[in-house]
Amino acid sequence: MFAKDLIGIQPRVEELESLLKLNSKKDDIQVLGVWGMGGIGKTTLASVLYDRISYQFDASCFIENFSDIYRNSGGRYGGATAVHKRILCQTMEEKNLDVYSPSEISGIVMNRLCDIKLLVVLDDIEEYEQLLELNIDPKSLLAGSRIIITTRDEHILKQYDADIIYKARFMDENDAHKLLCRKAFKNDHSNSIFQELVPEVLKHAQLLPLAIGVMGSFLYRRDAMQWRATLDGWQNNPNSGIMKVLQTSFEGLEQREREIF
Ligand SMILES: Nc1ncnc2c1ncn2[C@@H]1O[C@H](COP(=O)(O)OP(=O)(O)OP(=O)(O)O)[C@@H](O)[C@H]1O
Ligand SMILES: [Mg+2]
Repeated sequence: MFAKDLIGIQPRVEELESLLKLNSKKDDIQVLGVWGMGGIGKTTLASVLYDRISYQFDASCFIENFSDIYRNSGGRYGGATAVHKRILCQTMEEKNLDVYSPSEISGIVMNRLCDIKLLVVLDDIEEYEQLLELNIDPKSLLAGSRIIITTRDEHILKQYDADIIYKARFMDENDAHKLLCRKAFKNDHSNSIFQELVPEVLKHAQLLPLAIGVMGSFLYRRDAMQWRATLDGWQNNPNSGIMKVLQTSFEGLEQREREIF
């Protein structure tokens, strides 16, 4: 998705950028963690931030869906190496890494990356052990370097001693309304036939961008009767269709937050 299609993202990105204190002489912020439930927009936020600031670093890399790469490459027995290779590809344009052993690759990562001003985004960390195996010590990176981590689990950030822990927030109500209209009508406003239906959809989607996007796209070009039938379906059977898709996100909610839904 293009940044221009995102809604309400600018102030949040600016907030994160200022938390990173990129021009501070003190350089006391090395690791920034962003956490929040699935679908709230962590990856989106981190990638817009990355596009905005990466030019200020000597090298940068964005490892999207870290846990997928890690798991699909053998977990504890190769996962970290797969991520190391990605980091080297993105930062050094290093292509011929297959000739090295996992421990050699790990060594290359630390040797090459510790004397440049580096930005690393590790998106979607599921377990602290994944960070341990990656073996990148923030303290040994050159001054001015930054590591940004996104995760659904705040505790991982505490274990990693993140300097700042930022909680991703739900959308503002106006932004949620706008996003739904863009998805359902390809327009920033609803037309009068749907005026009463839109708030009902928003009630189901709450202020979660993933839910608003999925529901809005589902309703695109359906008529008011179909909207009504769809809404009744969601109401009566919260475990079907779209609701199921969204379930994994909702399952990640803390009990306190869950009560809101
Ligand atoms: N500000 C926004 N405006 C419009 N769409 C958004 C916005 N933020 C996120 N989205 C959309 O919502 C969906 C979920 O966002 P994203 O993948 O960033 O969530 P996430 O927090 O990383 O979820 P997960 O924990 O599952 O990785 C995506 O389709 C994204 O394009
Ligand atoms: Mg994500």
